[in-house]
Amino acid sequence: MNELDKHFEPQNFSDKVALAFTKFLRFLADTFFKKRYGHRAVVLETVAAVPGMVAGMLIHLKSLRKMEDDRGWIKTLLDEAENERMHLMTFIHVAKPTWLERAIILIAQFIFIITYAIIYLISQRTAHRIVGYFEEEAVRSYTEYLHELETGKIEDQPAPEIAINYWNLPLHSTLKDVVKVIRDDEAGHRDVNHNFADVIDTRSRIQKSADIEKKEKMKKDEIKENDQDLNKIK
Ligand SMILES: [Fe+2]
Ligand SMILES: [Fe+2]
Repeated sequence: MNELDKHFEPQNFSDKVALAFTKFLRFLADTFFKKRYGHRAVVLETVAAVPGMVAGMLIHLKSLRKMEDDRGWIKTLLDEAENERMHLMTFIHVAKPTWLERAIILIAQFIFIITYAIIYLISQRTAHRIVGYFEEEAVRSYTEYLHELETGKIEDQPAPEIAINYWNLPLHSTLKDVVKVIRDDEAGHRDVNHNFADVIDTRSRIQKSADIEKKEKMKKDEIKENDQDLNKIK
């Protein structure tokens, strides 16, 4: 399996929920956009730029409240949001959204900000896993888009100037080159978010076993104290 086809096998209920949620949204996107990849990219990139900003803000606020270091997570997440916004700024030069798509963008942003924030507050781990799975789908969609461009089913065109500047591409680059670098970005987000979910998982497992150890020690100390008291009485 190459780097692009990487898939995280669900390990527990939380992962299965994240994957099912992603597949459901993928089904909706496939039904609505079919092979209109440019339009699909515009609409979905408006949604993709939300989680990084929401998660970054929530960790920022938590860091302030708990006076705790964020271990570099905030910057990583805000960079992800910025990178996704640049995907949108690029594709807006490739496809112009219809009025219906603009309406969907407005509604989707409103719903998604609230839904993602709630999921993040309930289960930070699941929230990052969801983004990990979203990004797996993004890689897949851009591979399909690239295939259409390479086989000539969708006409290639010069890369938008904004993309040439942002990714430092050669001046003669085309849309194919842009789709490739964007797909690499998505693979990067996929790995970062799956990794964040794993880190949260490991942390909570360590915390749980530390709690169990603490409880056992307290029990032992209590028994010891009781024995000492009994001996005194005798
Ligand atoms: Fe993106
Ligand atoms: Fe992405």
